[in-house]
Amino acid sequence: MPCVAIVGAQFGDEGKGKVVDYYSKDADVVIRFQGGCNAGHTVVVDGNEFKFHLVPSGAIYQKKLIIGNGAVLDLETLTNEIEEVKSKFKKIDLLISDRAHVTLPFHKILDGAEESIRSCKVGTTKRGIGPTYSDKIARFGIRIVDLLDKNLLNEKLDAIIPQKNSILRYVCKSDDSLTKDEILEYCLKYAEKIKPYIGDASIEINRAIKEGKNVLFEGAQGTLLDVDQGTYPFVTSSNTTAGGACVGSGVGPKVIDKVIGVIKAYITRVGEGPMPTELNDSIGELLKKKGNEFGATTGRPRRCGWLDGVALRFAVRVNGLDGLIVTKLDVLGGLNEIKICTSYEYSGKEINEFPASLKILEKATPVYETLSGWPDLSKEEYKEIADKGYYALPKEMRNYLKRIEEIAGIPIYLVSFGQDREATISLREIF
Ligand code: IMP
Repeated sequence: MPCVAIVGAQFGDEGKGKVVDYYSKDADVVIRFQGGCNAGHTVVVDGNEFKFHLVPSGAIYQKKLIIGNGAVLDLETLTNEIEEVKSKFKKIDLLISDRAHVTLPFHKILDGAEESIRSCKVGTTKRGIGPTYSDKIARFGIRIVDLLDKNLLNEKLDAIIPQKNSILRYVCKSDDSLTKDEILEYCLKYAEKIKPYIGDASIEINRAIKEGKNVLFEGAQGTLLDVDQGTYPFVTSSNTTAGGACVGSGVGPKVIDKVIGVIKAYITRVGEGPMPTELNDSIGELLKKKGNEFGATTGRPRRCGWLDGVALRFAVRVNGLDGLIVTKLDVLGGLNEIKICTSYEYSGKEINEFPASLKILEKATPVYETLSGWPDLSKEEYKEIADKGYYALPKEMRNYLKRIEEIAGIPIYLVSFGQDREATISLREIF
């Protein structure tokens, strides 16, 4: 089973960076297939923290890294990350899809300007993600391959810049304006830097799959932020669900052998939008502090709540999940009771399926089951447990995990209780 997709099964920030780094040890190729530098994948190794926005989390194990066509690339961030990996690890084995789209400086300006005129704010990361994907779909986008052809780039920018200036001026009432020469210069400067890494990612990925290599697809954000399946319009602009791995990297759906969803032991959300199990009380505050729940990209505090089993079953269905990974179990330690939402109640009716209507989601009352908590354990205690294996975990934690498996209807592959690679117990192999 060498071809595995790992996706977020909540609102993002589930700990995918740590998980993908963990599995990268046995992977040959790691592919990032959607999103841009709205993502912040944190990996901690030997006390050193690495934060990647665009480069796949297999970077630390020095695996073949591929950025697929479904990603949108901020050239400055990308170049900085390449340099960072090269300076820390001497080299980087990276391929950037020539079909990926480019986030230009005006996309970031437009992101802020569009938010300011929205009737309901999305609370974006202001990294230009929505405007870049809008241009892609509207067929005004600049692709990585365009950066290699100065005349074509010039022509495309000639058509795009006046349009963007009109939107900024007349729609967004913004004083910002753009000049083509500045943008052309910006593109050409970074084109030179990333040129050695540009190529046809689909060919490379399909070749690796044919050769039976272990291939890992790394999702960004989470299922509930998927532009089609999520809590629209409070979503990101890409397909964060498993199907995105295929369209975003140029492989057919039959090649993915296994899809694994990552969840936190509770749930968090950054930005606006409904979140039925949100806790606006001392427990919510405790989870935020203890779990260090602040956005990796923007530093914004994340909203915290109990695990939402309705949303979890939805994630299992729309991704076709085969298994789960549960992270941050340590954060729940020390609570007497832990709740888990199994259904919602709305207008006197029980709701078991995650609804499309935001009105229902906003007004739904979670129906909770209460389980016993487990003690607050130190890093050292967890380390001893990790050495001994799954049955050394507190009984109450194992009960909680068992209940998650029952609600989701799929098995757990890995549990994690800290940022370090060692704070992990594997229950099943993914490759
Ligand atoms: P955008 O992706 O910057 O357009 O933001 C759209 C929504 O997705 C906002 O609510 C963001 O807070 C959220 N979002 C985007 N990227 C991430 C992420 O990596 N983790 C968590 N939330 C995210």
